[in-house]
Amino acid sequence: MREFLAICLRRAGHEVIAARSGGEALERLRTQSFDVVITDLKMPGDLDGLGLLKAIKSGAVTYSAVAGAAPLPIDPEVILVTAYATADTALAAMKQGAYDYLTKPFQVDEIIAVISRALEKRALLEENLALRDQVAGRARLANLLGKSRAMQKLFELIGKIHSTRTSVLITGESGTGKELVARALHTEGSRSKHLFVAVNCGAIPEALMESELFGHKRGSFTGAVADKSGLFQEADGGTLFLDEIGELSPNLQVKLLRALQERKVKAVGATDEIEVDVRVIAATNRDLEAEVARGAFRADLYYRLNVIEVRIPPLRHRREDVPLLAEHFVRRFAGEHARSVSMTAEAMRKLESYDFPGNVRELENMIERAVALGSSNVIEAGDLPDVRAMRLPVDAVIELPAEGVDLDRMISDYERAWVMRALEQTGGIRTRAASLLGISFRSLRYRLEKLGLDKGEDKGNDEDAG
Ligand SMILES: Nc1ncnc2c1ncn2[C@@H]1O[C@H](COP(=O)(O)OP(=O)(O)OP(=O)(O)O)[C@@H](O)[C@H]1O
Ligand SMILES: [Mg+2]
Repeated sequence: MREFLAICLRRAGHEVIAARSGGEALERLRTQSFDVVITDLKMPGDLDGLGLLKAIKSGAVTYSAVAGAAPLPIDPEVILVTAYATADTALAAMKQGAYDYLTKPFQVDEIIAVISRALEKRALLEENLALRDQVAGRARLANLLGKSRAMQKLFELIGKIHSTRTSVLITGESGTGKELVARALHTEGSRSKHLFVAVNCGAIPEALMESELFGHKRGSFTGAVADKSGLFQEADGGTLFLDEIGELSPNLQVKLLRALQERKVKAVGATDEIEVDVRVIAATNRDLEAEVARGAFRADLYYRLNVIEVRIPPLRHRREDVPLLAEHFVRRFAGEHARSVSMTAEAMRKLESYDFPGNVRELENMIERAVALGSSNVIEAGDLPDVRAMRLPVDAVIELPAEGVDLDRMISDYERAWVMRALEQTGGIRTRAASLLGISFRSLRYRLEKLGLDKGEDKGNDEDAG
C-alpha cells in the first residue's frame, strides 16, 4: 500500500518519502521539512497514527534547517488513512488537528484531491503569515509606530541612513517623536553596541556646557577637582544626541563645529586633543533655518548638522496613525495597572478628529489619564477631555433648510473664522498660524488673499488698502 501510494503520488508530481513506521516517520520529520504527512492509523511499533499526529501538532517535530533558527511556523498537514474508521477515531483525529481522513479502500484520485486541498490551505496560511509579517514590519520600526505614508517614508529613510556616520538633524513639532527617532537610528544601526548619549542643550547652564560636552582637566576652573571626560568621549563609537540644539550658545556652536570637523575634542584646560568616533544626531522644534537667517544660529554649523534632515510630520497630518498609537498606549497603560481596557469606536472617532497640537505626547498623556481615572474597563468618548471638535464630524446630522444654503459662502466663513483665530492666537505670526492650521505658509498666504484678509499687513491703513 505504502509503495503503491508513493509511486502514484510521484507520478502526480509530488516528492515523496516513505517511512515504514511511526518512529521512522518522526525521525524524518525532525530532519526535513514536509508539507503533508499521510499516515495509517494502525502501524507496527510504539507510535500509531494518532500518536504521530499528536507529535506533529504539538510542534515537537518542527523542522529547522539552521540549528538554533526559528522553527517553520506551520506544521505539516496530516491525512489519516484507516480501515477502522469508526466515528470515534475519526473524530479524535480531527480534534487533534488532522486535515482529513480516508477510509480504505479508496481511489487514488480521492487522495490526490485531498492532498491538493491540503496544499492549498498551506499556501494560504503561508501567504497570511507573510502578509502579517509585512504589515507588522511596516507599522513599526524599533519603538516607533506608524502606518501612515509619512511614517512609512520615515522608516525607509531611517533604514537607509542608520549606519552612516553622517550627522542628522531631526526636526518636528514638540511631541512628534524626535528623541524616539534618534534612538531608532542608533539601535537599528551599526553603532548599537556602543552608547547612545543624550544631552539636552537647553537644560544645562551655559557655563557648564563646554565641560559637559568635552570634559575638563583637574583645576581648570573652580570646582574642577578631578579630570572628567565629556559626553563626546562617553559616546565614543556610538551616538551623541544633542536635543534642542537651537539653544546652544554662540560660543559653544563654534566649539561643536570644530569637534565635528576635526573629529577631535579638547577638554577644558587641556592642551591636546583626543580623537573621537561619534555620530552626532541633533534635534530641534525651532525653525533653525529662520534662526540662521536672523543670525541666531551659525550657518556653517547648521549645514554641518543638517547633512541629512529627518522631518517628522505633526500627528494631525497623519491621522491614520492615531488609532494605532491610541491602541498601543491603551495596552501599555492598562498593562501597567494590570487591567484589560478597551476603547469604544466613538472614543476613537473623537481622537481621530482632534488636532493634537502636542502631538503624540499629548495623545499619550490623554490616554494615560483616561486609563488611570476611568472606573470601568472601557474608555468612552466622555472619558476623554472635551476638546473642541476641530472638524465637522462626517456623520453629524446636517439639516438643510428648504430654501437651501450658500455652500461657498458657508465654507469661506468657516475658513475665515479659523484663519483669524489662528492669527489671533499666534500674534499675527503667519508661519506659526499656518502650522497651527496644518497648512503650508504659501497656502495660508493664498487663503488670506482669497478671503480679503491680506490688507492686515498695512497696519491701521485698511481704508486705503482696497
Ligand atoms: N511614532 C511613535 N510611536 C510610538 N510612540 C511615540 C511615537 N512618537 C512619539 N511617541 C511617544 O511620544 C512621546 C514624545 O516623543 P519624543 O519625546 O520622542 O518627542 P519629541 O519630538 O522629542 O518632543 P519634544 O520636542 O517635546 O522634546 C514619547 O513618550 C514617545 O515614546
Ligand atoms: Mg524631545
